[in-house]
Amino acid sequence: MEECSIKAQDLTKQFGQLTAVDHVSFCVKPGEVYSLLGPNGAGKTTTIKMLATLLQPTAGEAWIKGHSILREPHMVRRAIGLVPQDLTADDELTGWENVVIQAKLYGFRGVEAERRAKEALDFMGLLEAAQRRVSTYSGGMRRRLEVAMSLVHSPEVLFLDEPTLGLDVQSRRHLWGLIEELRRQGKTILLTTHYMEEAEALADRVAIIDHGRIVAEGSPEELKSRIKGETIHVRLRDPGQTIALAEKLSKELGVDAEAKGDTVTVRVKSSAETLPGLVQVVSGMPVVEIRIVKPNLEEVFLELTGRGLRDEEFDVFKFRVMARRVRR
Ligand SMILES: Nc1ncnc2c1ncn2[C@@H]1O[C@H](COP(=O)(O)OP(=O)(O)O)[C@@H](O)[C@H]1O
Ligand SMILES: [Mg+2]
Repeated sequence: MEECSIKAQDLTKQFGQLTAVDHVSFCVKPGEVYSLLGPNGAGKTTTIKMLATLLQPTAGEAWIKGHSILREPHMVRRAIGLVPQDLTADDELTGWENVVIQAKLYGFRGVEAERRAKEALDFMGLLEAAQRRVSTYSGGMRRRLEVAMSLVHSPEVLFLDEPTLGLDVQSRRHLWGLIEELRRQGKTILLTTHYMEEAEALADRVAIIDHGRIVAEGSPEELKSRIKGETIHVRLRDPGQTIALAEKLSKELGVDAEAKGDTVTVRVKSSAETLPGLVQVVSGMPVVEIRIVKPNLEEVFLELTGRGLRDEEFDVFKFRVMARRVRR
């Protein structure tokens, strides 16, 4: 048990009929960044809440630095820092006040509480903004403040629940840099995300989670090596022609081609080899886009579950297209 900073064993949570987390087991080694990657509703937040002793498991057990979440919740809470998905900083207070209060909640007094608050704010690049009310902060600053709050008691284990949810690319990259720095300091980090780029950029190992179950685990490289070759997506203006195109591509190029919606997906060993022939076959057809996808974690998820990591965002897109049609 000692070689895992975080160990979950058959962790399970039932909400009525729904099994939100279903016998989840994993081990995060000291100093490792481990990511739970999965779509909305996969059970990531529920898992983190159980590990952070905020939610009682229905079954299973977990240990943080050897302390049982069931029998030693107090020890667990001292060992961890938590950045929850639903942010907790008080909008009406300044950043400084929020972090000092947090330090006092952990039992630090006077000068020591202030020293810790200053150090955490400085580390997260918030010293200048510390005297401003949180209500004036940008999304990125709020997230950084939450991380500062989670650091005041110098925990060795950090739980980051979708730390960059909804942030723009620049703020996301800034936060990634700071998480990298925390790793260099030797923190053990459990990070949940539905952004595959985030898991790829930060995690030593990734567990892909879907419907409460871990469906695959490994380093990003190991997971991607499950996908053989590359994928070419050919999108047509007329969805009625995709089936015919898929058949034609299979027949003439001997490739594995599948029609879905307005797109034909072709799996190949090397896109560079296949592309010239493919372009000849599709010439004269109403092609909107040809896109080449090298193996990434999104593809791994698709392969394992038959769905995308962010299906709901595709739905928003579809909705917009529909709305446009209705308006016309
Ligand atoms: N308190 C709750 N009561 C009932 N169902 C819940 C509760 N919390 C989460 N769920 C459900 O459990 C599933 C997993 O949710 P969650 O852990 O928040 O997923 P994620 O963080 O991966 O998006 C979802 O179907 C969600 O609706
Ligand atoms: Mg969540």
